[in-house]
Amino acid sequence: MKFFLDTAVVDEIREWNATGLLDGVTTNPSLILKSGRDVKEVLAEICDIVEGPVSGEVVATDYDTMLKEGRELAKIAKNICIKLPITMDGVRACKTLVDEGFKTNMTLCFSANQALLVAKAGATYVSPFIGRLDDMAIDGMELIEEIRAIYDNYMFETEILAASIRTVNHVKDCAIAGADVATLPPSTIEKLVKHPLTDKGLEDFLADWAKTGQSI
Ligand code: E4P
Repeated sequence: MKFFLDTAVVDEIREWNATGLLDGVTTNPSLILKSGRDVKEVLAEICDIVEGPVSGEVVATDYDTMLKEGRELAKIAKNICIKLPITMDGVRACKTLVDEGFKTNMTLCFSANQALLVAKAGATYVSPFIGRLDDMAIDGMELIEEIRAIYDNYMFETEILAASIRTVNHVKDCAIAGADVATLPPSTIEKLVKHPLTDKGLEDFLADWAKTGQSI
């Protein structure tokens, strides 16, 4: 499973990119607001840091302006992935932009039928929002499983990009369910490595090692 970072904060991206574990970045209008940066400027900087796809989201809601904004975002760098909401205009714009050779990420996916539709439109990624479904007491992980089954039935090439991830268990369950990508906030990605027994075990090993008086 690929890891994308779900942030527009350049310092966080630089830090995680240095681990060699980062496969891409996702942003959205709320994350751009949080970064306090100009959208084109910050996306250009992120695209310079990260080799993989960087999602930048259109904010228009009609087909023509979505296309205009999508093409404008794509000019920023060759690893820009145009993010569009799953509306009828968004799906239509996705099909056109894919036919023009652009990468697309279809966002705000909350049903398997939406995922089926965007796969038929040739989307590069579909972004099901797990956490926001969980917030409404609907099992977000079930959606990932349904989309996986549908995509496998018809050998759709659209990748499942699990989004709105809130916990480390979401990450594990996405991997078990066969999501292609998980986009993680930095606070979640850093929790993946942690286990109290690892800390305790290391502390004990180092204490014993000190007693040997040896060095390597
Ligand atoms: C990523 O593409 C999504 O925009 C993001 O994961 C949404 O997460 P949230 O539900 O925590 O805002």
